[in-house]
Amino acid sequence: MYDPKLHSHLYRQLDQLKKGQTKSKNGQAHFELRLASNYPTLYELLGELYGSRMEIQPLVEEVVLVLHNYYKTRKADLKKLDIKREKNPDWLLNQKWVGMMLYVDHFAEDLKGLKGKITYLEELGVNFLHLMPLLKCPDGENDGGYAVSDFQKVEPRLGSMDDIVEITKEFRKKDILLGLDFVMNHTSDEHDWAEKAKSGDPKYQEYYFMFDNRDVPDQFEQTMPEVFPEAAPGNFSFDEASGKWVMTQFHNYQWDLNYYNPQVLIEMLSAALFLANQGVDILRLDAVPFVWKKLGTACRNEYECHVILRLFKACFQIVAPGVAFIAEAIVRPHEIMKYFGEGKYSGRECDIAYNATSMALYWEALASGETNLLQRVTSNIPEKPYRTTWINYLRSHDDIGLGFDDEDIYALGINAIEHRKFLIEFYSGKYPGSTAMGAPFGMNHKTGDARISGTLAALTGLEKAIELDNQELIDVAIGRILMLQAIVLAYGGLPMLYSGNEIGLPNDYSYQKDKEKSYDNRWMHRPLMDWKAAERRNKKGTVEHRLFHGMKHLIKVRKSLTEFADLNSFKLEPTENKHIFSFLRWDYNGNRTLVLANFFNGNQFVKQEILHRIGLNTLKLKDAISQSTPTYFHDLIELQPYQCYWLRESSS
Ligand code: GLC
Repeated sequence: MYDPKLHSHLYRQLDQLKKGQTKSKNGQAHFELRLASNYPTLYELLGELYGSRMEIQPLVEEVVLVLHNYYKTRKADLKKLDIKREKNPDWLLNQKWVGMMLYVDHFAEDLKGLKGKITYLEELGVNFLHLMPLLKCPDGENDGGYAVSDFQKVEPRLGSMDDIVEITKEFRKKDILLGLDFVMNHTSDEHDWAEKAKSGDPKYQEYYFMFDNRDVPDQFEQTMPEVFPEAAPGNFSFDEASGKWVMTQFHNYQWDLNYYNPQVLIEMLSAALFLANQGVDILRLDAVPFVWKKLGTACRNEYECHVILRLFKACFQIVAPGVAFIAEAIVRPHEIMKYFGEGKYSGRECDIAYNATSMALYWEALASGETNLLQRVTSNIPEKPYRTTWINYLRSHDDIGLGFDDEDIYALGINAIEHRKFLIEFYSGKYPGSTAMGAPFGMNHKTGDARISGTLAALTGLEKAIELDNQELIDVAIGRILMLQAIVLAYGGLPMLYSGNEIGLPNDYSYQKDKEKSYDNRWMHRPLMDWKAAERRNKKGTVEHRLFHGMKHLIKVRKSLTEFADLNSFKLEPTENKHIFSFLRWDYNGNRTLVLANFFNGNQFVKQEILHRIGLNTLKLKDAISQSTPTYFHDLIELQPYQCYWLRESSS
């Protein structure tokens, strides 16, 4: 809204910026336009965070100067791309994007090696790469890089910032997106700020939450849950050097940043803009629900976390509007939605969020062979703002949290505690008949709660089937994997594969012998790429060939179906068969696809009549995956065990 006072400040600041302007204006008009439209927002949001404690005007000015500096140094080709994406703000929703996440060193040793392996990803159809944390981090324990020691340097083992710049240039030519982590909740205890805080510098002690004794930490502990109850119990660690207690919600070497201090906000904003200016397309904002801490609360999902994200978004809209944010918020469904922004900030927070709810529910449905809970919870997920999108996935580098609400389980007449116990036992292979080879992660003995670790191959029973050399079980597991992938690829959003899943890599148990990893069984599902196994994708009949080509085919078909773009065109279509998960996708040119997926290890049927009710002409239906008509049995459509159909009306 126009505010005369703010407008006069804006004029003053624009004059100030012009004075500093020397050579070419380098698109200054765009900066000014974007600044003008976001100026009141900067005031409002900085005011919300710090207004009760300080004068906001000087803070706004400081932030704008930072933004201007990053704008000035942003390369011309990136500015061009920004404008292209501003003109086509739906660019991320396109069905052409297919992602993969990987650790550079596990996949190709280092960044130079990665460049040589891009053709493998292209062969599969991947065109969005999320590289796991690669900034400088401590030797030894570093939580897989999620303990950053320098936000401007790449971990020397992996390469340099120049390598990143080069990769982004090459990717732009090939229309491949690069995503990097931005670990905004904490730094490593070896970060320069932490080192200074350890040595007693009061300025830097204010960058963290540091206390002389246990008084305040004990009060916090009363309401703060534990992230890693087994490996890192409690939320504070004693720092010998300073003699203080430091807030460390994750591991003791991951020091929580104090965003009550506006300098922290400005430093972290600068760090994010620095990465953007290297040519990164997407920033994965790590652990966002944790960034604001408040005594007497769980210190998760606090309102101020959202204010910080809105502020980051507004600042990026001014400097680098072509860069998208992923919220890493693996929380309850109604909380996840908030990271897309609410009210007047709807769609103005994060562009992408992990669809962690569906992910956990697919695993639940696979174990139980029934889709009631999946349908029920999905039907209650509110529609996300237009132009925001999901990351749909089955596995990531993290554990699987069973993040759905107990009330939903009880509503189906199932005992929630027993059901969660069943799922943990099922995926640990302890439940009778289960062929899964995962393991419980983060068992909280106080609450009985746990999450699940294991690769896609381990959890679907493929690893066990191969171990037993049992062809029938191998077929079942491959069926499960391809069905789950077909759902993820059709759902609406960016499908994200985890490296190695495309050839069914099994668990990696070597972490157990490494003392820096042995306490964290998430390492079991982060195997090193097995290039020998990958070679077998070229040999017909091998597991690798069946999986790789199965996925490659699904990806290719997905990219050809415009109704798979994420236009919020998604509707559950219950089939009266509890084993079948079913939803409709459409575009606005009359193309429609009905997805039917059988979670049961036995044939299942859907009445044609149900498809007629949806308005589909069954005489014209073809499965886009197999390019053939579905199997009919009288007036029923038949699905094999773990079969997934993408049913479309063919024009012929
Ligand atoms: C995120 C990461 C996880 C890491 C944590 C702390 O949840 O996905 O791997 O341990 O943040 O940075």
